[in-house]
Amino acid sequence: MILLFQSPKGGVGTSTVAANIALGLAERGVFVTAIDLTGQGALALCLGDVSGAIDRSGEIDGGAAVVIAGVRMVSPGEDRSAAEIVAAIESHDSDDGVVIVDIASGDRQVLDLLLPAAALRLCVLTPDPATLAALPLVYRDAQATRDDRTFFLLNRVDDRLRLGRDIAAMLRGLLGDRLFGTVRRDEAVGEALAMMETLASFAPASAALGDFRAIANRLVADRDDATQPQRGIA
Ligand SMILES: Nc1ncnc2c1ncn2[C@@H]1O[C@H](COP(=O)(O)OP(=O)(O)OP(=O)(O)O)[C@@H](O)[C@H]1O
Ligand SMILES: [Mg+2]
Repeated sequence: MILLFQSPKGGVGTSTVAANIALGLAERGVFVTAIDLTGQGALALCLGDVSGAIDRSGEIDGGAAVVIAGVRMVSPGEDRSAAEIVAAIESHDSDDGVVIVDIASGDRQVLDLLLPAAALRLCVLTPDPATLAALPLVYRDAQATRDDRTFFLLNRVDDRLRLGRDIAAMLRGLLGDRLFGTVRRDEAVGEALAMMETLASFAPASAALGDFRAIANRLVADRDDATQPQRGIA
C-alpha cells in the first residue's frame, strides 16, 4: 500500500504528519518504508533522527536502508528522473507493507505520476486563513475526476481559538467524507522534535500522539477490511 503525503500548501505539517503516521503504523507491527521526496530531509528529522544517517542509505532501489524508530527509510538518491523514482517506489510496495512518501507541496508532477499506484493521497491542511486562500487549489485536487484517492487530514486543530475553530468547522463541512482524520495542535510535537525524540517516547500522553495513532489505526482497519474509504466530496 502506497500512501502519498502532499498538500498544495507548504508548512502545514505534511512531513510531521507523514512521519508520525509512519511511526503509528510501525507500532502496530506494519512493515513501513518511508521515502522523502522533498529534498529537505525533514522526514528523518520528524522521526527523531538527526544523525544524517539517511544520507548514507544508498539508492531508493538498492543499498542498505536505515531503520529509524522501526521505520525503514530509503533515500531517493540523486539525479533520478521522476519516472525512475516512481518505478523504484512501486518496487517497494507489498501487500502487507506500507510505503509512506513525503512529496513537496508544489511537486504536482511527482504526485500525478505516483497517484495511479497509490492507495491514498493524504492532503494535509491547517485551519487558518492562509488555507482558505488556497481553497481553489484544494478543490482542484479533490474534484479532479481521475483523482478519487485524495483524502484530507486537518492538522494543528485548536478549537480554543475562535478563528481556527470556525475555519475547521467550515473545512469539515466542505470536505465531508473526504476528511480522513484530524490532529490537534500540540506543543509536544515541536518539543519532541527539539529533543530529537519521537512523540511516543517524549510525550506518551500527548493529544497529537493519540490523534496520529487513531489515523494509523484507521488505515490498518481499512486495509484489513479490504474496503476503500467512502468517496465523494460534499
Ligand atoms: N499537530 C501539530 N502541533 C503543533 N505543531 C505542529 C503540528 N504539526 C506540525 N507542527 C509544526 O509545524 C511546523 C511545520 O511542520 P512540517 O515541517 O511538518 O510542515 P511541512 O508542511 O512538511 O512543511 P514544508 O512545506 O516546508 O515541507 C513544524 O514546526 C512542526 O513541528
Ligand atoms: Mg515537509
